[in-house]
Amino acid sequence: MAKVRVIASLDIGSSKIRTVVGTLDEGSQVPNIIGVGIAPSTGMRKGAIIDVEETINSIASSLEDAERMAGEPINHVFLGIGGNNIESINSKGVIAVSHAGNEITEDDVDRVLEAAQAVSIPSNRRILRIIPKSFTVDEQKGIKYPVGMTGIRLEVEAHIITGLVPAVKNVEKCVLQAGVDIDDIIPSCLASAEAVLSKRQKELGVVVIDIGSGGTSVSVFEEGTTLHTAVIPVGGENVTNDVAIGLRTSIDTAEKIKIEYGTCAPMDVNEREIIDLSLVSKIDTQKVAKRHMAEIIEARYHEIFLLIRDELAKINRDGMLPAGAILTGAAVKIPGILDLARETLNLPVQIGFPQNFDGVVDKIDDPAYATAIGLILWGSRLENRSYGFSLKGINLKKSFGGVKDWLKSLFP
Ligand SMILES: Nc1ncnc2c1ncn2[C@@H]1O[C@H](COP(=O)(O)OP(=O)(O)OP(=O)(O)O)[C@@H](O)[C@H]1O
Ligand SMILES: [Mg+2]
Repeated sequence: MAKVRVIASLDIGSSKIRTVVGTLDEGSQVPNIIGVGIAPSTGMRKGAIIDVEETINSIASSLEDAERMAGEPINHVFLGIGGNNIESINSKGVIAVSHAGNEITEDDVDRVLEAAQAVSIPSNRRILRIIPKSFTVDEQKGIKYPVGMTGIRLEVEAHIITGLVPAVKNVEKCVLQAGVDIDDIIPSCLASAEAVLSKRQKELGVVVIDIGSGGTSVSVFEEGTTLHTAVIPVGGENVTNDVAIGLRTSIDTAEKIKIEYGTCAPMDVNEREIIDLSLVSKIDTQKVAKRHMAEIIEARYHEIFLLIRDELAKINRDGMLPAGAILTGAAVKIPGILDLARETLNLPVQIGFPQNFDGVVDKIDDPAYATAIGLILWGSRLENRSYGFSLKGINLKKSFGGVKDWLKSLFP
């Protein structure tokens, strides 16, 4: 009988902590999802921990929820981290190929990626991922996977994603204290993309936009690899705050009415339509105009898309990505978002539902689960490559191994 392994992910967001559990048959890369857990993330703000105790409790509650559904204990997780402490830079590395006959080996790839890390990264930042964008062998540019080729000089252009050491350490600590080990840490923007993109979209050029609570992450792919990543510190929480200020309500009421009646398309709302707040709140009892709320919501989402457009302009891809924009994160579930995004970004736009897994858990057919599912997919690809499972946290060498395996899985 084929060996089956349990694989789990933990997406620590600013508003929700999501856990997904799957099983993976030996030799397969398609996980079967068997459990999902969710808990409010009360100890976090904008991707940073503000209350350790509460965060540990939320993580534990999300894990228990998923264990109950799956009927399997969770001992280790692929952990996704995001938030405003994540930054990225581009870097280059060059080495002389070491082997006789000058055939490029995996060791050469390791060494050139190591060389690419010799950029000045502040001591309070830690590399979470180094992604090779393209290799040059002697004068030949644009090589995706150079192992087996012959050459003397190997060069790489790499994208490096870093996190603030204290922020990453605090998240790690909370996860370990909640009772699970960490298989690997993956920036959530890369994980979300894994769940919603096809290989073809990545080849053509596409941007994945994850609008969460505390922020919006942007990741651009082209020619099969990551071109750019960025985090914009504006998300669904800002929309709620605007509604609360604009309509003079409490935050809780603003959140409720945003989700229940909110839209990004004020022109579709009848001018005379009124929301009676006393139906959703004991504190707020006034009546507010639904169209006015829609105008407030539209303004903030419009700002988010303008900031994304600026980000795309920085890499000369403003309106220039053939496979368009894919929206994930719970905040993209607002009506009217597709037209607003399409007009502002001047790109084709779709909602990104997680794909590439089996199983019949309905909850996860939801753009809010893109990160958690993407982490499972990431882990599934590594699973079949005798990947160590019990390491606590990652070191550089390990994150490296991840890259190499990852690269191989992209270019068999
Ligand atoms: N149906 C909905 N319509 C509009 N907004 C929604 C809806 N459901 C959730 N949201 C908003 O989505 C946001 C939460 O998104 P999500 O759960 O993806 O965030 P997170 O992953 O916890 O946070 P982050 O990724 O920023 O750390 C909240 O601001 C919430 O108000
Ligand atoms: Mg998120």
